[in-house]
Amino acid sequence: MTTTAQTATERAPATIADALLAWFDVHGRHDLPWQHPRSAYRVWVAEIMLQQTQVATVIDYFNAFMARFPDVHTLAAAPSDDVMAHWAGLGYYARARNLHVAAQAVVAEHGGEFPQDVESLMRLPGIGRSTAGAIAAQAFGVWAPILDGNAKRVIARLAALEATPGTAAYEKPLWQLAERYTPRTRVTDYTQAIMDLGATLCTRSRPACERCPLADRCQAYASARQAHIPAPRKRAKRPLRETRVLVITDADNRVLLEKRPPSGIWGGLWSLPEVALDANIAEQCQAQFGLAVEHITELAPIEHAFTHFQLRIHATRVHSRHATRIMDSSRQWFADSARPGVPAPIAKLLDSPQHTLAL
Ligand code: ADE
Repeated sequence: MTTTAQTATERAPATIADALLAWFDVHGRHDLPWQHPRSAYRVWVAEIMLQQTQVATVIDYFNAFMARFPDVHTLAAAPSDDVMAHWAGLGYYARARNLHVAAQAVVAEHGGEFPQDVESLMRLPGIGRSTAGAIAAQAFGVWAPILDGNAKRVIARLAALEATPGTAAYEKPLWQLAERYTPRTRVTDYTQAIMDLGATLCTRSRPACERCPLADRCQAYASARQAHIPAPRKRAKRPLRETRVLVITDADNRVLLEKRPPSGIWGGLWSLPEVALDANIAEQCQAQFGLAVEHITELAPIEHAFTHFQLRIHATRVHSRHATRIMDSSRQWFADSARPGVPAPIAKLLDSPQHTLAL
């Protein structure tokens, strides 16, 4: 190799984007299902699923969703029950409701074609500035900064931004820096690269700075502040709410599920029947479901964190051999093998050994 060639290959990358992209080419994620084929519809669905959920969890949901709703027209025309059923277990169900409404808007107002600019994308329900940027950049190669949780952490450390997350003193400079770092070329790869760096090396705890392609430009690393940036959020403790659900099984070990009302937590999803905390269970089963109860067993409660409260779910297992007449469109018996999608904590309850144990 000539001296000139050597100098050229060893020259330090000119910008943060160059360094990040060189790392991405070797270490980034190139085989995510929404990258092949990459369409606006697929990128959009993936980005909405990824708003609160990790890639590893999203992949199976994404593939099942695409098999059932392969394009925006199919999604727009689908019954909302069906959309909710495909979201069951992913959580944050407002995302699914918004997704459905947004699909209908794309069909009705944009002829089924996603708009390519950030402002128009942001007018669709469920799409904030970062998600709009991620769609514009990944689906259309349009220059747009993103600032999801991963990108925020990377940029806050690069700039040693000590302000508290959630405050304007944190968010505003981050957007300015995100704009500055986002390159005019390879914006699609850059968008994936900054998320991948945040997810794999620039992690919240114990970041792998010694392997980071940006370490020599990182002000947090230079001052050994990476463990303290971003500053911890001052989060008020979530209030505790409690409820009780019934795991009612019949002679064939089928379980009784109810469709929840369209609004409120787990709106529109199948779930276990919910009763008052202090309900007289035998009486209520008789009155509400026409069931003669044979055994009642208290199961260990489980807890689930919602954005604004913590829910403790008490669960009572009820067995009735003479299960009857409680079949309508929103209350049905289900065998394990035919169980519809249910919220993740309810699936956990139903799948726990206490539940499957034969009586
Ligand atoms: N989080 C949000 N969007 C993502 C993506 N495209 N890849 C990985 N993580 C993400």
